[in-house]
Amino acid sequence: MPKDSNGHLVAGRVSPTRFVPRQIVRPEYVGKPGPSRFTGSDIYGAEAVGRIRESGRIAADAIAVVGASIRAGITTDSLDVIGHDYIVANGSYPSTLGYRGFPKSLCSSVNEVICHGIPDDTVLEDGDIVNIDITAYKNGVHGDSNQTFIVGEATPQVTDLVERTRESLNRGIKAVAPGREVNVIGRAIESYARRFDYGVVRDFTGHGVGEAFHSGLIIPHYDAAPAYSTEIVVGMVFTIEPMLTLGGIEWEMWADDWTVVTKDRSISAQFEHTMVVTERGAEVLTLP
Ligand code: MF3
Ligand code: CO
Ligand code: CO
Repeated sequence: MPKDSNGHLVAGRVSPTRFVPRQIVRPEYVGKPGPSRFTGSDIYGAEAVGRIRESGRIAADAIAVVGASIRAGITTDSLDVIGHDYIVANGSYPSTLGYRGFPKSLCSSVNEVICHGIPDDTVLEDGDIVNIDITAYKNGVHGDSNQTFIVGEATPQVTDLVERTRESLNRGIKAVAPGREVNVIGRAIESYARRFDYGVVRDFTGHGVGEAFHSGLIIPHYDAAPAYSTEIVVGMVFTIEPMLTLGGIEWEMWADDWTVVTKDRSISAQFEHTMVVTERGAEVLTLP
């Protein structure tokens, strides 16, 4: 069921909605078709940054707990159970659950899935890669992070893609400095990725995050200059989340309206952190 005769992923069966204890505070969009338009700021003071750091730590810890269970034979739905239970046990809400109709508590994006894969009865196999993207909401703020894991042992080509995608995020983070335009981030990522001839996905981006899951601020992962000229300022909070592929950057959406796959079915990897801008650069808020 998880793959067709060409080894390409196909949609599996999605389990019933998981329970969130009533005392866990929901984001405003839960139970609605989508979020209200965000009218707040992308710039936060120390107290709010502290709250985002707490949500970010829960998201990071949840990813680590899920990651420790990744092995051949496990389903992405079982990973969702582990992530969901960790998030709610820590007094937070899994931000993706009920976000614009997304049905699960994390995104699990396998192999050619670029992003937004839905956990289902897909069984992970040796040599697969799987991205686990978790956002936790607590004390009125979201922290958003993801990592790509290798199941068992992958080919050198795929292992290199995963490690270089991690490195491209680090390069993007190092490019952050007050007074620069946000497009410097994508320039750093793309110039690194181009060395290896990787595809650099353009149509899914980093974003302002905090009181809103997606604030409206966009952080491109390619060199978009002179577009995306927003000045980076101290206290700004956003994600960087590059998606690199072994092939092209064109994509298709599955009939579930969420799962984004490479059109050429090439393998895609992603890493994401939430960060706050400081005088010295960026402080990552999604650390264990
Ligand atoms: N966490 C994803 C991001 O990095 C967003 C997931 S939205 C969902 O922005 F609805 F697909 F879960
Ligand atoms: Co994000
Ligand atoms: Co995310």
